[in-house]
Amino acid sequence: NYYAILMAGGVGSRFWPVSTQDFPKQFHDMLGTGDTLIQKTFQRLSNIIPKENIFILTNERYNDLVFQQLPEVTKRQVVLEPAMRNTAPCILYASLKIQKENPDAVMIVAPSDHWIEDEQAFTDNVQQAFDYCSKNDALMTLGIKPTFPNTGYGYIEYNTSFEKDIKQVNQFREKPDYATAKQFMEQGNFLWNAGIFMWHVKHVVAAFKTNQQELFQLFEKGIPVYNTEGESDFINENYGLAENISVDYAIMEASKNVYVIPATFDWNDLGTWGSLYDKLDKDSNQNAVVNAKTILENASGNMISTKKDKVVVVDGLKDYIIVDKDDVLLIYPKSKEQDIKAVLNKVKDTF
Ligand code: GDD
Ligand code: MG
Repeated sequence: NYYAILMAGGVGSRFWPVSTQDFPKQFHDMLGTGDTLIQKTFQRLSNIIPKENIFILTNERYNDLVFQQLPEVTKRQVVLEPAMRNTAPCILYASLKIQKENPDAVMIVAPSDHWIEDEQAFTDNVQQAFDYCSKNDALMTLGIKPTFPNTGYGYIEYNTSFEKDIKQVNQFREKPDYATAKQFMEQGNFLWNAGIFMWHVKHVVAAFKTNQQELFQLFEKGIPVYNTEGESDFINENYGLAENISVDYAIMEASKNVYVIPATFDWNDLGTWGSLYDKLDKDSNQNAVVNAKTILENASGNMISTKKDKVVVVDGLKDYIIVDKDDVLLIYPKSKEQDIKAVLNKVKDTF
C-alpha cells in the first residue's frame, strides 16, 4: 500500500541562471554525481516504495524531460499540471487519484531536488513514519535541526514532553521573518521542515476538506473521471482555477494532527547557490568551483560555476556567487542569495 508523490514542477528560480523555466534544477546534475536530482530522488524512494507506485507530479512542459530521465516510469505515473499553482493543488489532485486507485494508500510526498547523505537513515525514518501513519490520524513531517535563522524554510515547534522518536507538533510556521526565525531558534524546540511529508491518503484528503474548502470542491468534482479517459479534459478545464498556494500554508499551518520525526540523516534542500556551496569541496580559501579553470587572488568564500573549462580570473572578491551560463553572467553577493528570484523577475521585465 505504499505510494510516493515526487514533486518536480518547481522552477528553482533562486538557482538562476543554471535553473531556468525550460530546464529547472531538478533535471540538472547539480552535484556532479552523474545523476540528476530527480534521478537520485527516484532511486532513494524506490528503496522503500514499489517503483510502479511512485508518481511524478510536474508541469506538462517537463513531460519529455521526465521520460528521458526516468525511462522506467509509465504514463500512469506521470501526473501533468497544465498551470503552475504551487504544491497544494497538485498534492490534492494526486492524492484523490491515488485514493481512487487504493483507498488504503500510505504515502510520502517528496521534493525532487534535495541532497540526502545517508540513504539508509532516510529509509528508516520513512519506514517509522509509515508504520505510525498507517495506524494513526497523523500528518507526519521530517524535522532538521536548524543551524541559523533561515527565512526560506518552514519551522516546526515540537512538544518537548513527548519523549518518543515521533513528536507531537505545537505549531507549524511557514517561512517566518528573520526576527521570528531567530526567536524560534533561541527557544530551542524548533526544527526546520524538510519539506517531506508522510500520511495515510484519507488523512491528507480530510485536511484539505477541512482547511481548503474551495480547492477541495474544485478537485472533488473530478473524482468520477480520475484515472479514466475523461481526466485530462477535466484537468485542462479546471486546474487553472485552483488557488496558487503551497501545501505548507494550505494545510500544515492549520492542522492539529501534525507530528515530526527529527531526521537522523544529513539534509540540504539545494535551494540556493549558498546551499550548493555548502555541499561542494572548497579550495584553501573556501572557494567552491564547478567546471571553471580559475586564477584566484584575494578571493575567498566564492561560489563559481561556469561551463566546462571556462577560464575565470578573480581578484579582490569575497563571498560572491559567480555564475556564467549561456548569455547570462551573474555576480551577486552570497548574503543576498534569496533575492535572486526577484532579480530574475526584473530581468524578465527588462529584456
Ligand atoms: N508538481 C509541482 N508543481 N511541483 C512543484 C510546484 C508545482 O507547481 N511548485 C513547487 N514544486 C516542487 C519543487 O520542484 C520542489 O521539489 C518542491 O515542490 C518544494 O517547492 P519549493 O518551491 O522548493 O518550496 P520551498 O523550498 O520554498 O519550501 C518548502 O520546502 C522547504 C524545505 O526545502 C516548504 O515545504 C518549507 O516548509 C520547507 O522548509
Ligand atoms: Mg525548495
